[in-house]
Amino acid sequence: MSFVPMTIGDLAEVTAAEQRIHRFPWTHGNFLDSLKAGHGCWIQREEGVLVAFAVTMPAVDETHLLNISVVPERQRVGLGCALLEFLCAEARQAGMTRMLLEVRPSNTGAIAFYRHFDFVRIGRRRGYYPALEGREDAIVMARNL
Ligand SMILES: CC(C)(COP(=O)(O)OP(=O)(O)OC[C@H]1O[C@@H](n2cnc3c(N)ncnc32)[C@H](O)[C@@H]1OP(=O)(O)O)[C@@H](O)C(=O)NCCC(=O)NCCS
Repeated sequence: MSFVPMTIGDLAEVTAAEQRIHRFPWTHGNFLDSLKAGHGCWIQREEGVLVAFAVTMPAVDETHLLNISVVPERQRVGLGCALLEFLCAEARQAGMTRMLLEVRPSNTGAIAFYRHFDFVRIGRRRGYYPALEGREDAIVMARNL
């Protein structure tokens, strides 16, 4: 598996994939802001085709997983797991001790994925996400690195 830093040149492809993956996708501007802020922005390609990407934001000794996405046709073949392992190794090398993330309670697939990866629930943020009607809470999960 090879993960390479995302560049501005990748953003059209990343944004198009994001729109296929998420009901409430990040915008081109969201990814651009993360790149400009120096967040950890990574992509993976298979034979030149974008298959997965992720964004992490370091904060002192914790890293926040802001986005992890695998294109629909390549989900459930281990790409997400490999990407998350890579992100954890990167964070550990940078001296981070914990990874945190938010996930929608309705995203049962992602919650199962994070549990598979030993993340545990540590809290809930009320009305964190936009939803089709009103707002949806976020479950906060964490894993020691
Ligand atoms: C969540 C996501 C990143 C997981 O990546 P993936 O490559 O599909 O997952 P993997 O193949 O590495 O799965 C590893 C394990 O996690 C668990 N898992 C992953 N997806 C699951 C699902 N939809 N339902 C139940 N368990 C799941 C399983 O235990 C799986 O092992 P198995 O396939 O041997 O049973 C990917 O499905 C995705 O991009 N989903 C849409 C975007 C999203 O929801 N991102 C997270 C937002 S917080």
